[in-house]
Amino acid sequence: MKLSLLFLFLGFSLVNARHRVRINLGVSSSGSTFSVLDYGARADGLHDDSQAFMKAWNAACSSSGAVKLLVPPQRTYLLGPVKFKGPCKNVQSITVHMQGYLRATTDLGTYVNGDDWVEFGWVDHLTLTGGGTFDGQGSVSWPYNKCPQNKICKVLPTSIKFVETTNTAVKSIKSLNSKFFHIALLGCKNFWGNDIRIQAPSNSPNTDGIHIERCSGVNIYSSVIGTGDDCISIGQGNEQLVISGINCGPGHGISIGSLGRYQNEGDVRGLVIKDCTLSGTANGIRIKTWENSPGSSYATNMTFTNIIMKSVANPIIIDQEYCPYISCASKVPSRVRISDIFFRDIRGTSTTPVAVTLKCSRGVPCQNVNLHNVNLRYAGGAPAKATCFNIKASYSGTQIPEPCQ
Ligand SMILES: *[C@@H]1O[C@H](CO)[C@@H](O)[C@H](O)[C@H]1NC(C)=O
Repeated sequence: MKLSLLFLFLGFSLVNARHRVRINLGVSSSGSTFSVLDYGARADGLHDDSQAFMKAWNAACSSSGAVKLLVPPQRTYLLGPVKFKGPCKNVQSITVHMQGYLRATTDLGTYVNGDDWVEFGWVDHLTLTGGGTFDGQGSVSWPYNKCPQNKICKVLPTSIKFVETTNTAVKSIKSLNSKFFHIALLGCKNFWGNDIRIQAPSNSPNTDGIHIERCSGVNIYSSVIGTGDDCISIGQGNEQLVISGINCGPGHGISIGSLGRYQNEGDVRGLVIKDCTLSGTANGIRIKTWENSPGSSYATNMTFTNIIMKSVANPIIIDQEYCPYISCASKVPSRVRISDIFFRDIRGTSTTPVAVTLKCSRGVPCQNVNLHNVNLRYAGGAPAKATCFNIKASYSGTQIPEPCQ
């Protein structure tokens, strides 16, 4: 394999001097490093480099030991949908050293069968790092996203997706203007994310920063997220998640949910969100569950602590009457059971008079919700208020607004 590659480069080198430089690069980076430039990436931002990336990944993945997939800096790579799949049988660890600037193809026709953009699947001990940028070029496709208006809609590609990976670290990367979600974790076990920078305009549809579903052992920390939707959204079937040191805004805040939309959803349990600042967001900490939920599930054991709200419209909100489309006339109450929820040391300003909303399900009222040291002031001057439905919360320490019962 290695040998035939070398011949390939020698072949090139006879033709043009620029490739001779690449031979040297190729040889010096041989062994456990696989550079996309050695696999034919043009890196000019114009020609599609997807095939080169896939070839480099496949070579790295079928190699052995600790391997590295290198995407060299100061170059732009145009990419359509790419899938980096494992298992990589003899590989101990695989590091994707992403130093370049990746630009997503804007032609939606290249994303067939619900393709996402860059997908990692079934890989163990993957590290994605290097300071590079994933530019989803979403502004071209946002007008085609009808999901905010219609329940049945075509979902656009997520920029970076992790499917059933184990022991994954994502560190020092940037994601810009995704077409749909920026980053999605599905069925991952043990995931560490830090120094992730995510940026999209406040009016971009469904550009959630990090969406997590059916995962366990996820730690996301020290990251800056500004989008048009949730900075972090925690879907169904998650357990043992710690989210800390997130700077969120603009966007819809940090959301648990929406839960209860589909049948057979998993429970969400064991969640800690701490040391976060939300600035100018629509919500601060939100738990939202659908009305008319077809199945029942639990959302339990969640602690939200040391959260600063700077001009947030709904700083604390439990909403079990989530119904973004108008067809909710039947009003069957949500069947997601919310319990053991702790809000501690939550302070700052609300841009609406109702700073705390606890709107629980008529069918399954919230159980054991505790607020300790809450200090949220309405920026408009009048005292902030709280509203509650179907809940008897407990309170300790400072309470501004005054508890509602
Ligand atoms: C609640 O969640 C935390 C954090 O994941 C965990 O350490 C703790 O054991 C959980 N408590 C219960 C009673 O399950």
